[in-house]
Amino acid sequence: MQTSACIFDLDGVIVDTARFHFMAWKKLTDQLGIHFTEEDNERLKGVSRMASLEIILGIGNIKPDDCRKLEYAKLKNDWYIDYINKMTPDEILPGSLDFIYELRNANIRVAIGSASKNTPLILARVGILELFDAVADGNIISSAKPDPEVFLKAAEMVGIKPSDCVVFEDAIAGVKAALNAGMVCIGVGSSEVLTEAHYIIPGLKEMNLIKLRTIEKDIRS
Ligand code: G6P
Ligand code: MG
Repeated sequence: MQTSACIFDLDGVIVDTARFHFMAWKKLTDQLGIHFTEEDNERLKGVSRMASLEIILGIGNIKPDDCRKLEYAKLKNDWYIDYINKMTPDEILPGSLDFIYELRNANIRVAIGSASKNTPLILARVGILELFDAVADGNIISSAKPDPEVFLKAAEMVGIKPSDCVVFEDAIAGVKAALNAGMVCIGVGSSEVLTEAHYIIPGLKEMNLIKLRTIEKDIRS
């Protein structure tokens, strides 16, 4: 059985937006007097905007009402958009484009499965919106990773059954979501963090079609 679709998480797999999330959350936490570090930011990877805010408020032991929470999330997102509006195609992570073109040439469907509501904006800013057969993102799902919804939605949009999909993910919650969807999951990042993934690579530069075929053969046999 061969892969018919590859589904890519966006943040941390195709582009490095974690630093912009950090800078924007940092502006908010500075205003609120919360001590927020880059280490804390690691906990927000793959986590939805409101769930991220809850984690941050927990760090500061602050309990605002729901209306205030929405205000904080909007403030953060406005700052975040300022950063991503300045992104250029140079910020696409090494190897991503070559691999995606290779997949497309082999007639393998390519899709995005991301929690981010800013997915369309980011893809447009770095000039790759047209590259994907489907984009499943935070705007069309109701349950965040580790729920499999976003990946199942992406599979449905490209018309491929979940067991024929391979997911590329950099976040623990995302790896769990892919496994919950019954898909093969290749972790992108550290093997110490992404322990549950079927296979781990440091970045998409380390991936090509021959390698993908070998990995999936091992996993699916
Ligand atoms: C991705 C990132 C998270 C972010 C989430 C929501 O999963 O890894 O850090 O919180 O998207 O992003 P958004 O752009 O909708 O605030
Ligand atoms: Mg990610």
